[in-house]
Amino acid sequence: MGAPRGLKGRSLLEPGDFTPGELAELFDLADEITESPERYAEVAKGKILAALFFEPSTRTRLSFETAMLRLGGQVIGFSEAQSSSAAKGESIADTVRTVGCYSDITVIRHPKEGSCRVAAAASDVPVINAGDGGHHHPTQTLTDLLTIRREKGRLTGLRVGLCGDLKFGRTVHSLIRAMRVYEGTEFVLISPQELRVPAYVIRDMEERGCPYEETQDMRSGMRGLDMLYMTRVQRERFFNEEDYIRLKDQFLLGAEQMRWAPSSMIVLHPLPRVNEIAAEVDADPRAVYFKQAKNGMYVRMALICALLGLAAR
Ligand code: NCD
Repeated sequence: MGAPRGLKGRSLLEPGDFTPGELAELFDLADEITESPERYAEVAKGKILAALFFEPSTRTRLSFETAMLRLGGQVIGFSEAQSSSAAKGESIADTVRTVGCYSDITVIRHPKEGSCRVAAAASDVPVINAGDGGHHHPTQTLTDLLTIRREKGRLTGLRVGLCGDLKFGRTVHSLIRAMRVYEGTEFVLISPQELRVPAYVIRDMEERGCPYEETQDMRSGMRGLDMLYMTRVQRERFFNEEDYIRLKDQFLLGAEQMRWAPSSMIVLHPLPRVNEIAAEVDADPRAVYFKQAKNGMYVRMALICALLGLAAR
């Protein structure tokens, strides 16, 4: 199987940049890579991925780097703004344009919303948004969708609960934008009043006529869910610490709460967790967040193959 042809040379800035058909091909490729990794071990030989991380990251950066190494390619980059020329005042456009002279593909995470778009406009090589402020995080969404597809066997007809910081959580915004196009999706949004989804996310759902409910009651919100997407309260995006402290522990998922949930409800979390999911939940077969982290590596391998037009021999 080759990489989805239509994606070669393109960038991924927001979910919705790829059609459901292109996504399905990408997930098929991720499945194929998972089954036969040896066929892909050298496809990126001679290629270089640049990972420019202006914000902290564990999974996203390391899974991208591992993905490229497992495809036989190489990696350059930095993991904090202070060690790049951004510290001297260089613009993101100039940094990305320069890095594109050295590499074949650029992955960028930046605290400013829309920064990846500025970067992509200045770049001669494909750019992947690895998170732009509180806006979007499309490759986490690829990870989430692949996990849902693997665990539930489908992406249609799902009742999707999202819980926690729905205001600043970029993974939530991206997942809603992606899931709204699948037939029969319903959303249940569980958050404190002050951390409800922003207006543009409401518009995303309304545009597609997706049913959604907003609630502050976790117990009733969990009724009938096919999946629950837990998120951490995004401390770094708050204007003051008191608000964060007041809101951070409003929704905690423990063994007791899991007893309210349907037996087929899977639990996802983009990670890192702080304490919104108790460690005791990890042993519950419905908890799939560590599998999800592993799926992230395979789907990023597939994405790199697709954007660079690499195929197994
Ligand atoms: C998420 C992010 O950076 O937005 N982490 C990740 O990429 N897996 C979620 C978070 O930081 O809470």
